[in-house]
Amino acid sequence: MIHLSARLQAIASLVEPGAAVIDVGTDHGRIPVWLAQSGVAARVLATDIRSGPLAGAAALAEKTGVGERVTLRLTDGLAGICPDGWNTVIIAGMGGETIASILAAAPWTRNGVRLILSPHSKRAVLRRFLTENGYRILSERLTEDAGRIYPILTAEGGSSGSYTPAELQLGKLEQIAGDGLFGPYLDGCIARAEKAAPYSGEASALAAEYRQIKRRLFPHDDSK
Ligand SMILES: C[S@@+](CC[C@H](N)C(=O)[O-])C[C@H]1O[C@@H](n2cnc3c(N)ncnc32)[C@H](O)[C@@H]1O
Repeated sequence: MIHLSARLQAIASLVEPGAAVIDVGTDHGRIPVWLAQSGVAARVLATDIRSGPLAGAAALAEKTGVGERVTLRLTDGLAGICPDGWNTVIIAGMGGETIASILAAAPWTRNGVRLILSPHSKRAVLRRFLTENGYRILSERLTEDAGRIYPILTAEGGSSGSYTPAELQLGKLEQIAGDGLFGPYLDGCIARAEKAAPYSGEASALAAEYRQIKRRLFPHDDSK
């Protein structure tokens, strides 16, 4: 079995056994290869918008003996892919706006598809898109890899309640506050919002909302 980094392992662990999985923007192809090798996925399709990464993913699948079980497709997001029983879509390692635009162009992802999403920037843009466009965020978690903390969320078609500006950034507190990495993640968000606060009313309001959350959840931590 190939080795997955902590971040990729956290993503792969959210795939349900027997799933038919599309990994959008696969790049190195490690997730689809691991899903095929482990037998967790019944079938796997890996896409990328660039041919170079796709060739690398093909080479890895061949080298590890799963070339016949991982289908590769050069395409923008999910363009041209027939829903055809695919019940899990992973989109990780891209900005939140890119993930949102890929989903917006594939409304079939609202019908019985489990989404595993890991935005590396613009997280609030993605959560806002999901909550305003017929998706329900099912779970939130954080994973640490090489000194950075990444959010990973799962979603499906449905409706979400309303989110405050801080919840759009952090995730719903009832879903994320119990995560062991939430404290340091919140501290990072507070530091970034406080840095931007002198130049932006929005950042200033966000910093205030974060500090209120911190006081409520970590009443004995007076570091901020
Ligand atoms: C930083 S890599 C992330 C790779 C992998 N998903 C991960 O999380 O480690 C982003 C990949 O997404 C691909 N990509 C960017 N926009 C895309 C799009 N609209 N459709 C498909 N792939 C895309 C890039 O070519 C690149 O290979």
